[in-house]
Amino acid sequence: MVNKITSLAEYLQKYQESVADPEGFWEKIAESHYWHKKWDKVLDWYFEGENAPNVNWFVNAKVNITENIFERNMFMRKDQVALIWEPNDPEEKEIKLTYGELFEKVKQFANALLKIGIKKGDRVAIYLPMVPELTIAMLACARIGAIHSIVFAGFSATALADRVNDATCNIIITSDGAHRGTKTIPLKAVVDEAVAKCPSVDYTVVLNRTGEAVDMVEGRDFWWHDFIKGVGTENKAEVMDAEDILFILYTSGSTGKPKGVVHSTGGYMVYAEYTFKNVFQYSDGDIYWCTADIGWVTGHSYIVYGPLLTGATSVMFEGVPTWPDAGRFWQVVDKYKVNQFYTAPTAIRALLAQGNEWVTKYDLSSLKVLGTVGEPINEEAWRWYHDLVGKGRCPIVDTWWQTETGGIMITPLAGITPTKPSLATLPLPGIQPILVDPEGNELKGNSQEGILCIKYPWPGMLRTTYGDHKRCYQTYFSTYRGLYLTGDGAKRDEEGYYRIIGRIDDVINVSGHRIGTAEVEDAINQHPKVNESAVVGYPHDIKGSGIYAYVICEDLSDTEMETIEEEIRDTVSKFIGPIAKPDKIQIVNGLPKTRSGKIMRRILRKIGEGDATNLGDTSTLLDPGVVEEIISGAKVSVKR
Ligand code: WTA
Repeated sequence: MVNKITSLAEYLQKYQESVADPEGFWEKIAESHYWHKKWDKVLDWYFEGENAPNVNWFVNAKVNITENIFERNMFMRKDQVALIWEPNDPEEKEIKLTYGELFEKVKQFANALLKIGIKKGDRVAIYLPMVPELTIAMLACARIGAIHSIVFAGFSATALADRVNDATCNIIITSDGAHRGTKTIPLKAVVDEAVAKCPSVDYTVVLNRTGEAVDMVEGRDFWWHDFIKGVGTENKAEVMDAEDILFILYTSGSTGKPKGVVHSTGGYMVYAEYTFKNVFQYSDGDIYWCTADIGWVTGHSYIVYGPLLTGATSVMFEGVPTWPDAGRFWQVVDKYKVNQFYTAPTAIRALLAQGNEWVTKYDLSSLKVLGTVGEPINEEAWRWYHDLVGKGRCPIVDTWWQTETGGIMITPLAGITPTKPSLATLPLPGIQPILVDPEGNELKGNSQEGILCIKYPWPGMLRTTYGDHKRCYQTYFSTYRGLYLTGDGAKRDEEGYYRIIGRIDDVINVSGHRIGTAEVEDAINQHPKVNESAVVGYPHDIKGSGIYAYVICEDLSDTEMETIEEEIRDTVSKFIGPIAKPDKIQIVNGLPKTRSGKIMRRILRKIGEGDATNLGDTSTLLDPGVVEEIISGAKVSVKR
């Protein structure tokens, strides 16, 4: 397979090459893609200066990513399965789509979008469960040059409306409902509530998935099957500039509302394919399965774009790991003889807690590579995954990356890089990590711990934050001049291997999902009885981090006191979604603040961790008594 590294020596050599001559390195890789016109220059960039960051890869090149998935692969793979869809209910029949079949469906849906006037540059919101139509809709957008903005179907109407409005989407593609385990979730009803607040939305397209009753507005809402009825499959791909936007994906940060991370076409394409085949060491004919939801970046890059560009067979799963029972993942691995399996540490910890017999029941001998992503993997989970799931035969790739990086950055190459439990090991070729101290001084050499930054552009990196380029600079490039700030702390060990410690900002990583403390506080504060709140993360056995909310309320009667916590959780669910519900809520009379009014989260974090004996310097507090009161008066409600 072209551009696939096959030995440690080759990795080391490629890494050296990629640092000595990054442009030459990426140029060679990009040669294997299909371009309408090649670049005038490989890279144009600065992280600091007027209108920074400015990052242009493959300058003036012309390309369409779907031609690299379909036309480029068609000769070899027309009848090869591209997508295997496994439904929520194991009793329901799976769907397999070959490259040829998927291509026809993508072109047809692309034509239907064109027919109602969606064109290059328009923003299309997609709010769908994990069904094949999600992949079809996103690729149809890419085909015609429309920008997809996929919103995880667990977000609330308010969160959906915020995202749709920020990107002024014209259309939302959704379904009547979603199946998740035993639950049916009414998605169209959520969309209706959102659309009422979204003046830019002219149309919705509604897939019939669950068959429940929905309201359809004449002229605005179309059933998917009616939308494509009679539409042909002849379609020529829109020719895109390498730097035209491919998609927007919203993610949480330390402050304010989630921002729309923007990825452009050419660089993302090259990076998604290169990282996929190298990290997972994919070989022709392998069956690859990533359990993520396409609503998150992992699904974008490693269910859809990376695998399909490579010509892989990618499994897409609608369900949950624990229904009908805790053996569901392994049953699916057995059913399709999965070779590479990629999931999140939180799922591993949840399954580990259910006992080994769910794993040992199934034949997992097809597995060759196991991957993890989204949060640090603790050693116990790593060992269980390695020893029990992989029977000690399968290398684990602990892949560190972010929505903003577009693809995997620091990781072992499966079977090539010697691994150590809980270490993401080494950077991929083309990636130049650096550790700095809080003042921004580089920490050189091995055995260092600091703030993880990246000092040179890579093709998959974000280009801007949608509609607010200054915010992009402010968030990622202003803290340490000339460096991309990841927001993570990391250790480099004596061998130069990286261990990711976790976020150093006010982002909490809950079950591998990024949640901003400010967002949760804003949601809690919407409750009419709440005056103020402060949210921190605390260690949680399954989720990695849980959400701990300290809340000041107006005078509450005894009966109000009984229901307030549930009401607060419901409020958060309404404004963000169930994933952001606080695990613990403590009603307090005051919050520890400095004289200038800043909440000292460091102290709240310590209390949340149960380490109240070691609070450090509290002398700058306006009222140190508050801390005592929080520690002793602890009435903490734990989510059932
Ligand atoms: C965390 C997910 C430790 C990290 C692809 C990062 C990890 C955030 C790992 C990005 C890993 C991701 N080890 N931590 N292997 N992978 N993270 O944007 O804190 O949803 O900044 O992208 O997840 O989350 P995001």
